[in-house]
Amino acid sequence: MSPLLILTIFFSLFLTLRFTEMKTNNYIESSFWNFDTLFVPQQHPARDEHDTFFIKDPMYAQGFPEEYMDKVKTVHSQGGFGSQGYQYEWKREEAQKNVLRTHTTAVSARMLYQLAQQQKDGFKPVKLFSIDRVFRNETLDATHLAEFNQIEGVVADYNLTLGDLMGVLHAFFKKLGIEKLRFKPAYNPYTEPSMEVFSYHEGLQKWVEVGNSGVFRPEMLLPMGLPEDISVIAWGLSLERPTMIKYGIDNIRELVGHKINLQMVYDNPICQLTQS
Ligand code: PHE
Repeated sequence: MSPLLILTIFFSLFLTLRFTEMKTNNYIESSFWNFDTLFVPQQHPARDEHDTFFIKDPMYAQGFPEEYMDKVKTVHSQGGFGSQGYQYEWKREEAQKNVLRTHTTAVSARMLYQLAQQQKDGFKPVKLFSIDRVFRNETLDATHLAEFNQIEGVVADYNLTLGDLMGVLHAFFKKLGIEKLRFKPAYNPYTEPSMEVFSYHEGLQKWVEVGNSGVFRPEMLLPMGLPEDISVIAWGLSLERPTMIKYGIDNIRELVGHKINLQMVYDNPICQLTQS
């Protein structure tokens, strides 16, 4: 058993479904891309130092797309595109603060913005994915670490609905051998509607949360310049969670970090998630 193997399985699963990999090679991200572009208000609790690691040096990021940043500022502070926004005084300094990225959705935001800039002859539907590390300033315990790996899928196409999101999630999890899914309404600042995803774990005989998902809000997509009839559905899950469930590991520190027993990697036979 090795987390690397699980990673490979998710990787090839996305490739089988013809998703393109996003470039995730920056652990440090500005608050702008990690939060503001995702319509997370500047006073949101997730931006608190209890949840997010802020970088001291360099504390502030530079080099933003100014025109787009202005649109983000407007949608937060005054609204637009049919939204009333949050009606607060948006501060550039807050957006400039460097953080260790708290989710790979920051990368998805960068990518969608880039695609919106390139759409000279109309927007072409895309399917994107990423698998990489994220950081949260959490209290460490048996199931929480301050860093973990996130798996993210993004589909942008004309007129996608919540039904499409449910269909894609069913297809995705079915490939992993997970057939029983349930969806629970949730809240993310950047998706509406939002759903937590649960799957029935036969071994544990209970429903366990396996992911979070939603339809990106117009307040996020329209300032980027994406056409109005394009919808973007997305979902995220942790790599460690299904691995722990699959292998009956009850302490995450046996799987990630400096305390893992490397001998385990050599000793365990190669095994896979059941694929259908
Ligand atoms: N960013 C969310 C998280 O960190 C996951 C997510 C991705 C939710 C995409 C909705 C859409 O939990």
